[in-house]
Amino acid sequence: MAKAATSKAPAKAAATAKPSKATGKGGGKAPRTHRIAVLPGDGIGEEVVREGLKVLDAVAEIDGFLVERKVYPYGADHYLATKEAMPAAALEEMGRMDAIFLGAIGDPRVETGFLERQIIWGVRQTFDLFVNLRPIRLYHEALCPLKDKKPADVDMVVVRENTEDAYAGLGGIHRKGTPHEVAIAEMIYTRQGVERVIRYAYEVCKKRNKKRRLTLVDKANAIRAQDIWTRTFAEVGKEYPEIEQDHAYIDAACMWMVKSPEWFDTLVTPNLFGDIITDIGAMIQGGLGIAASGNIHPGKISMFEPIHGSAPKYRGQNSANPIAAIEAARMMLEHLGEAKAARRIENAVRHVIETGRIRSLKAGAYKCDEVGDIVRDAVKAGAGA
Ligand code: IPM
Ligand code: MN
Repeated sequence: MAKAATSKAPAKAAATAKPSKATGKGGGKAPRTHRIAVLPGDGIGEEVVREGLKVLDAVAEIDGFLVERKVYPYGADHYLATKEAMPAAALEEMGRMDAIFLGAIGDPRVETGFLERQIIWGVRQTFDLFVNLRPIRLYHEALCPLKDKKPADVDMVVVRENTEDAYAGLGGIHRKGTPHEVAIAEMIYTRQGVERVIRYAYEVCKKRNKKRRLTLVDKANAIRAQDIWTRTFAEVGKEYPEIEQDHAYIDAACMWMVKSPEWFDTLVTPNLFGDIITDIGAMIQGGLGIAASGNIHPGKISMFEPIHGSAPKYRGQNSANPIAAIEAARMMLEHLGEAKAARRIENAVRHVIETGRIRSLKAGAYKCDEVGDIVRDAVKAGAGA
């Protein structure tokens, strides 16, 4: 069994395995309970996750549900001490919980990409988390690096495919270190994989009730296999006549994101392009300090994390911005069916930024725990509702 520490959460202790969303038998009705696996990871992961949980606890108290949690130690420190990266037994245990809350993974003391592949990619693959949902919303024009763009201009969501593409790991390096070295990384797209994420994107777009425009972002003019995206997009689109089908090649899409972000409503794209374009998205909404994501398999265990990395140089300085982690907690609540609680966090975050209570999202502008306190207090005061 995995070595894991139980947090000293004000909500219920996590040691005992209980069925999720338990309701009481017989007498008094027990509160709804969600079981989450907490993976703080590396660098600033621990401090931002702490603030995310702080805000989570505040809404749980208001809305009357419990969040049981188990904290897992995986990341660089644990790996260097034990040579254990992400044990199968821990993954199996997590699979019985309702959600995973991840801080950040990555550390210069470990070979580039190793822990990322073992932990982030390991969780995405193990639980078939085929959607990477990345909302991009600007809350205050002062946070946007683009000239003359207002909150109404930057309001979109990217649906990134999350299990295939060049990430799938098919390929390898042959004759390594020789002049005849060959490196191959195959871009894999299965009909099932493409169709399910495209259908999910149409559904997201339908529910957004905004422009109802779904943009497929690909590179089918150069990568011929991506024709599978073009065809599937059109076919599934027949089920959604109310949604405008739009298309942009990835290079042009990057340009439009910067030039005319107001064009976009919902985007759907293969894994690698989604990775890249959502970093642009993070910048135009105010930076990595606010961008969050959900690695989702609808109806099943899913993982929520800030988009930012572990920023090792800021570790332990209490200077990272935890809003991205707080936003990730908000997305997790949505997934857990706690829409009201999620809305409270959304309102509070928007409020503290709109009103200038938090004026900068840059690391060091505020103390990490100070931002957590500000958002928690705003939640408690019902701010922005
Ligand atoms: C992300 C990250 C990861 C990715 C890395 C850390 C493997 O950049 O979640 O966007 O490329 O998916
Ligand atoms: Mn990325």
